Amino acid sequence: MSNCIIDSKITAAMAEFQTPTSLGFGKVKSPVMYRVDYRDGAWQQGRALPYGNIEIDPAAKVLHYAQEVFEGLKSYKIDSPRANFFRPLDNHDRLNFSARRMCMPEISAELFMEGISVVTALSESLIPTQTGQSLYLRPFMIGLTGALGMGASTEYAFIVIASPSEAYHAGEMKVLIEREGCRAALGGTGAAKTGGNYAAATQSAQKTQAMGYHQSLWLDPGSMQNIEELSGMNVFALIDGKLHTPRLTPSFLKGITRDSVIKLARHKGYEVIERTMPIEELLADIRAGNCIEAFACGTAAIVSPISVIAEADGTNYELEQSDVVAAELRAGLLEIQERRSEDPFGWTCEVEDQFYQLALAS
Ligand code: COI
Repeated sequence: MSNCIIDSKITAAMAEFQTPTSLGFGKVKSPVMYRVDYRDGAWQQGRALPYGNIEIDPAAKVLHYAQEVFEGLKSYKIDSPRANFFRPLDNHDRLNFSARRMCMPEISAELFMEGISVVTALSESLIPTQTGQSLYLRPFMIGLTGALGMGASTEYAFIVIASPSEAYHAGEMKVLIEREGCRAALGGTGAAKTGGNYAAATQSAQKTQAMGYHQSLWLDPGSMQNIEELSGMNVFALIDGKLHTPRLTPSFLKGITRDSVIKLARHKGYEVIERTMPIEELLADIRAGNCIEAFACGTAAIVSPISVIAEADGTNYELEQSDVVAAELRAGLLEIQERRSEDPFGWTCEVEDQFYQLALAS
C-alpha cells in the first residue's frame, strides 16, 4: 500500500484552478505535483503537493553539470470512468537506464507508479476527454547536492508534474537534414533521456525553424551518414510497401512509441525492418518513388506524418503520400491507448484504486 502524504493545501489549489479552453502541449500545468527525496542512500516518503516553485541550492549539480533525467508518458480518460496509463513500466525501466548513465540512483517501480498515479488521481477532473488529448505526465529526477566540484550528487529529488494537453505535433512535418551538428556523441548520452541532449538540439531546431521547417533530422555522430531520430521523436519510412526504421544505436532514444508502432504494424500485417538507414539511400528512394510515405512517432507526438525531407540548400524531397499508413497506425495506437479497443499486447492499465482513495481522503 502507498504511504504517500497528501498535502492539505491541495484541495484549495484544485478549487482555484481553471482549465483554459485552449490547451496546446505542456503549457497548462495541473495544480498538483509529486515529490520524493533521496538522501542518506535511500528514497524517503513520497508527498503530493500543490504545484509550485521548488527551492534549490544555487550550487546544485543539476544547475551546473546537468545531472537530470526525465520521462514523458500520458494518462488517458476517453469514454471511461477511470484514467489509464500506457506501458508505464517501460518508462520506469528507461528512467532507470537513464539514471544509471547519469550516475543517479534508480527508483523503485512502486515509487514511480505512486508518483504518476497520485498526480493522475488528484488531477482526474482536469484530464481532457477528446480523443488525442491526455494528461501528459513528466516525471524527472535532479541532482541536488550543492557543491561546485564535479561528480555525482548524494541528494536527489524525483518529481512528477502533469499537463492537460493536446498532441505535440498534430499536423504534417517538414524536416531538415542536420548535416553539421550532432545531438549526441559516440559513447555519449544519446540513448539516455537527459536534458543535455535536448539542450544540444536547440541550436539546430532554431536554425531549422528559421528556415521554415519543423524538426531537424539527426544523423549518426560517427559517420554522419545514417538516419537516427528527430529530437523527441523516432522516424519510419514506407519503402516498397514495407516499414523501415533505424536500428537502435547507443546514440539515440529507444522510443516506447517506436516499439509500440513496430509491434502494432507487424500485428496489422506490415513487414517492419529495423536497419541502418543511410540518408542518401532514403533520398534516392524518395526520388525514385520507392519511398512514398514517412512519419515520426513519440509519446507526445503520437504518430505524425512527414511531408518533406529537405537539405539546407533548399532541395526538398516531397513524400508522395501523406498520412495514410501513419493515420492507420495512429488510429490503431490511439484506440489501444485510450482503451477504445482490445489491447492484444496488454499495454494499458488503470490507475489503481488505492490512489483514488488517497485522493478522496485529501
Ligand atoms: C515525449 O514524447 O514525451 C518527449 O519526451 C518529447 C518531448 C521532448 C516533447
